[in-house]
This record gives sequence, C-alpha cells and structure tokens, in this order.
Amino acid sequence: MALYSEKVMDHFRNPRNVGTIADADGVGQLGNAVCGDIMKIYLKIENEIITDAKFETFGCGSAIASSSMATELIKGRPLSEALQLTNKAVAEALDGLPAHKLHCSVLAEEAIQAAIKDYYDRRNDPTGSRPA
Ligand code: FES
Repeated sequence: MALYSEKVMDHFRNPRNVGTIADADGVGQLGNAVCGDIMKIYLKIENEIITDAKFETFGCGSAIASSSMATELIKGRPLSEALQLTNKAVAEALDGLPAHKLHCSVLAEEAIQAAIKDYYDRRNDPTGSRPA
C-alpha cells in the first residue's frame, strides 16, 4: 500500500489556495519546533463567514497537503465551524496520513485557530496597528 493517499499526493502536487491575502482580516502562523516546518494562514472574513483563505507553508508534503485541504474545508464556512475543524477531520479529508505525519495536520488546525484569534484580537484593537 502506498504511504500517501492519492488525495495527499494531489493536494501536495496541486495545492489549492497558495499565497497571501494583502488585506487579510486574520493571519495565523504556527511552527513545529521538532521538524522546523512553518505554516501561515490568511483569512478574509465578512459577517463572520470566511470568504477567502490562503496559505504559505514552508514544510513537508503532508503539511502542504494539510494546508491545502484545510483552507478548502473552511472557505465559505462560518467562523464557529472553522474553529471546530480538527486535525483529524483534515487528515480524514485527505484519506489519512501516516501516523508520524499527523502532526502536519495539527499545524493546519492550530494555524487556522491562530488566524481566527488574530481576527478577534484586531477587532478589539481600535488602533488596528497589529502587524499582518
Ligand atoms: Fe513537520 Fe510535516 S514533518 S509539518
């Protein structure tokens, strides 16, 4: 059996939503200290709905596939649903990840949560001077 599912390979080779959003409403970045991979998620949010999501991932193929799938899963969804996206759901949507690569999907879950937190922090910061 192949180590990686066809979906993982597809999202690794043809990642969806790669890039940045210049006027993002929330940005979240997470890194894994062990492997050194870094994931950054950008969100555009209107009326509590994620209207656009992009990512920059400096990391392994599983992290790129997880970013790609995770951004697909949250686009068009309310923040309340995106906050509940688990790494397990990302891995399942990819038809599974090898056990030693599950932490790559954790980066996606946590980077999205960080981006949503950033959105709420910005709303509570009247100066709007937080770095993007
Ligand atoms: Fe660390 Fe994939 S090996 S994110």
